Amino acid sequence: MINRKLLMAGFAAAALALGAAGAMAQIELHNTVTGEPLNLSDAGEEGQDTPAFKEFIQTGKNPYNKEPNCLANGEQLFLSMCSGCHGHVAEGKIGPGLNDDYWTYPDNNTDKGLFETIFGGASGQMGPMYGAVNPDQMLQIMAWVRHLYKDGVENAVWLDDEQKASFKPYDGHSHAPKADPAKTPEACKASE
Ligand code: HEC
Repeated sequence: MINRKLLMAGFAAAALALGAAGAMAQIELHNTVTGEPLNLSDAGEEGQDTPAFKEFIQTGKNPYNKEPNCLANGEQLFLSMCSGCHGHVAEGKIGPGLNDDYWTYPDNNTDKGLFETIFGGASGQMGPMYGAVNPDQMLQIMAWVRHLYKDGVENAVWLDDEQKASFKPYDGHSHAPKADPAKTPEACKASE
């Protein structure tokens, strides 16, 4: 005989376990070139406990793509960490352009792929960046790189339908909108 009560209790426990696992499930990150798993602990703890990074590591989507108040800090980080090789507006220099719809590694047109390249590096001069910027700052840089995108919306696969509807290609010279301190997430405030 099946004990109904026990069965129900079993279901409830299973559902709870599933729920807990669901809440903790993280996306798996791999090196862009080798496919080796990336180890987040290489980066140290800073920038891994922000609301944005916690969301990213579960969804693979960069929440800062929808946060205009983080663009100014993302721009500053890009100018100090990336533009020397990728150009002022990511037009390309000794590293390839990041503002168009051609990618050496096609996965870079997703947030997950772009994060993997920044965190773990690619080949040659494109070394891993986890020692230079923390994971939350990588998301801020990524949002700025996406902001610099100048090509067709049809290849901007990181945008959802709503963002696509209001998309405007980058005009080639303007700076990030000034952040409103009252609305700026803590992690996006410039550290002096
Ligand atoms: C010392 C120079 C240098 C710095 C600094 C640097 N990069 Fe790179 N980057 C390169 C080179 C060179 C490549 C090409 C590597 C390859 O093809 O494997 C590259 C490749 C990339 C790619 C892959 C592009 C594609 O077409 O698939 C991305 C994305 C990228 N870099 C982002 C960044 C970001 C963001 C930063 C700053 C956080 C940064 N890089 C800093 C030199 C650099």
